[in-house]
Amino acid sequence: MKQSKKIGIFGGSFNPIHNAHTNLAAAFIKKLKLDKLLIIPTADSPHKETGSVIDSEHRLNMCRLACESIKKCEVSDIEILRGGKSYTVDTLTEIKAIYPDSELYLIMGADMFMSLDSWREPEKIMSMAVLCTVPRNDDDLGVLRSKEEEYKSRGANAVILDLKKSDISSTMIRQLISDDGVFSNYVDAKVEKYIYANYLYMNKGTVNYDRFDKVLKARMGEKRYIHSINVAVEAQRLAKKYGADVEKAKLAGVLHDITKETPSQEQYNIINKCGIKLNFVESSSPKLWHAIAGAGFARDIIGIDDEDVFNAIRYHTSGRANMSVLEKCVFIADFTGAERDYDGVNEMRALAEKSLEEAMAFGLSFSLSDLAKRRLAIDPNSVACYNEIVLLLGKGSKK
Ligand SMILES: [Fe+2]
Ligand SMILES: [Fe+2]
Repeated sequence: MKQSKKIGIFGGSFNPIHNAHTNLAAAFIKKLKLDKLLIIPTADSPHKETGSVIDSEHRLNMCRLACESIKKCEVSDIEILRGGKSYTVDTLTEIKAIYPDSELYLIMGADMFMSLDSWREPEKIMSMAVLCTVPRNDDDLGVLRSKEEEYKSRGANAVILDLKKSDISSTMIRQLISDDGVFSNYVDAKVEKYIYANYLYMNKGTVNYDRFDKVLKARMGEKRYIHSINVAVEAQRLAKKYGADVEKAKLAGVLHDITKETPSQEQYNIINKCGIKLNFVESSSPKLWHAIAGAGFARDIIGIDDEDVFNAIRYHTSGRANMSVLEKCVFIADFTGAERDYDGVNEMRALAEKSLEEAMAFGLSFSLSDLAKRRLAIDPNSVACYNEIVLLLGKGSKK
């Protein structure tokens, strides 16, 4: 590994990382002529109560996105990999072992700078790194300077950069997000998108279509977004016609493809995290995962606690035996939404006006025969759905 001479270390919970963090990182790189600055998200900060700190994986990913454009800035997962409480002295020891000839610069907030003596092994920290901070406000500078003198008298090195003050804090941003406020001025655009895509810091269980709109746009392209809205409109229309809950139809329609453009591995992880069991065909058919992961996302990440909505999303591709009216409406709407223009769409639309089951039978025959032609496995849920419907329609016994 290439040895760096001056390495900045900037730890914190970064919950989430925001522009004041990245400005500070860039300023220290420039002013101290650092060769490298490591942004190190904590696994579990001993200085803060951790109830509101989200998954370290998300914090790490946001740091990576925010730092992509800052030269000499790298994000390190050493504290997250170490797990447990993150003590600075352990991190410095680990970094010193990787870069034995380097000079370390420990960047911290003014309150941390003032309270260093309450940290684990402060003298060892002072012996390993130059202590760096910035004042929070105009009154801070004097207090920090006298603290700096005290540290110097104990053999430490310290740097106080009098940078332009910033009022941004992660707490403020989290509050803005949960209140549906605008926070785009305070975080990198990629971080904002990540927050929406992963539904971070948002109140679970609230049905909020403006917010869902942003979540959808962060997770999918324009075409899929239009499709989702069209499915919601069509599902509502069918729900009204056939007596299902119109509001639930809208909700399931909007969210049905929420993970369709998510990589398979991530879909699989969502399914696992949500504790959803797959049958043997589902396990080996990644194409079916988006519906299942989507249902898990709606239930566990967004917090939509409704079994019918869950099932409408879960089975919107495969179908299943004993589908509710809502499930059928969403299944059919996926075929008949306004933008659909495949051969047979008009027939499907006409059947949907006659009977949900006629339309289901038509749609299932179409997709099942396509799978069979391509010698792909057919989900037993689809077979059960097909059998149930054709028998019900009296077509199963025809020669
Ligand atoms: Fe879908
Ligand atoms: Fe769809």
